[in-house]
Amino acid sequence: SVSGSVEVNGTKYAANAVYTNITPSIVELTHRSLHLSESHPVGILREAIEKKLNSTDAAFSVYNQFKPVVTVHENFDSLGFPQDHPGRSKSDTYYVNEKHLLRTHTSAHEMECFGRIAKGDSSKTGFLISADVYRRDEIDRTHYPVFHQMEGCRVWKRQNPSAEGEEPAHIVQLREDLAKLEKQLAEQATKIVVEDDCTLEGNPKQEHMTDLEVDLCSRHLKRSIELIMAEVFERKLESLRKSNTDVSEIPNVLKVRWIKAYFPWTAPSWEIEVWWQGDWLELCGCGLAQEDVLKLAGFEPESHISWAFGLGLDRIAMLLFEIPDIRLFWTKDQRFHEQFQKGVINTFQPYSKYPGTLRDVAFWLPEESSLKVHENDVMEIVRNVAGDLVENVKLVDEFVHPKSGRKSLCYRINYQSMDRNLTNSEVNDLQDQVSQELAKKYNVQLR
Ligand code: PHE
Repeated sequence: SVSGSVEVNGTKYAANAVYTNITPSIVELTHRSLHLSESHPVGILREAIEKKLNSTDAAFSVYNQFKPVVTVHENFDSLGFPQDHPGRSKSDTYYVNEKHLLRTHTSAHEMECFGRIAKGDSSKTGFLISADVYRRDEIDRTHYPVFHQMEGCRVWKRQNPSAEGEEPAHIVQLREDLAKLEKQLAEQATKIVVEDDCTLEGNPKQEHMTDLEVDLCSRHLKRSIELIMAEVFERKLESLRKSNTDVSEIPNVLKVRWIKAYFPWTAPSWEIEVWWQGDWLELCGCGLAQEDVLKLAGFEPESHISWAFGLGLDRIAMLLFEIPDIRLFWTKDQRFHEQFQKGVINTFQPYSKYPGTLRDVAFWLPEESSLKVHENDVMEIVRNVAGDLVENVKLVDEFVHPKSGRKSLCYRINYQSMDRNLTNSEVNDLQDQVSQELAKKYNVQLR
């Protein structure tokens, strides 16, 4: 069904019959730039974090205007993703054609931004990149095909000691920078309680790094992320304290823990988890930048040491503003947007809850056993037909007929609008279309 060209953000790309899987409704969303809106929860959070991080030593350039189409090289190859990494698959990623895709993370711009420092085009020693990122995924209250990330990076140029027995200048600098962060953390009203049992076992440093560099650089990275968490959750705890009569329920510390992680473009790597209302939330991946990435960006071999993090903005914004459904971020309903203002983290007041309608679609897969249904493809079909009128899709039944060996699947769809009541005939129409599209694509037999 794909031929000719596809246009995204004013640029035309040749479509590819095998690769192209972006759809008009996804392309629509590339124009929204919610993270740039000063009075949108995602934009408010982005600004708060930028402000906090640059309050320490104004080290970061801020890049928020990168277009969402990037090359496979930028998104995957330059970052050392292996060829068979699942993130590269068409079921997980929106491809424009065989060379271009909608970025799946803001790390896609690391090389370019490191390059600006390497070339001397930026006088800063770090950068922050916020942008919309795209992933094919399930449909529920916390997943949307577009969400937002903030990438952060810092670099230090290696120096030789100026005299025997003296510490090199970059070590002195790292110590100073770290001390500033620690002071700032100590001054936050919300104290962070950190659990960190991470060793470098199974999470090794890179050869060119000294133990001291790894120690200082990773502490600087971890304290920077903790500062972000302290800042944003502090505002939330404060407002909870103001509104809640049972203040004893509300903690006066924020518990976080560091766990080891793996990313192809950082080593060692970690993730931070924040204890929030009874759950550990995974909020940010990070690590020390791989030497290969820095070299590709144009730095002299082993001339710099650097950290990088990638933070998901939507999850945090949903907690802070108490947004129950991620689709609300994308609504054009003024009853949502009029509730937020620049610089203020407040609690969202649901304006109304419209009832949902559950419908099942069940089908037999064709006999050819080679056919595999990827759940993300089912989600995409539903999304294309019903867009934001679907709240949730889940597989509720799956069985293989004992005699014929044929497989049957049943998906349950909850049709529910954020902004209005859906009529019964509207839901019937949507359900018919979903059924027909499934039947067409998979050649299935509806049950
Ligand atoms: N890009 C990673 C993600 O989307 C996060 C990350 C960024 C991890 C930078 C390490 C360094 O999960």
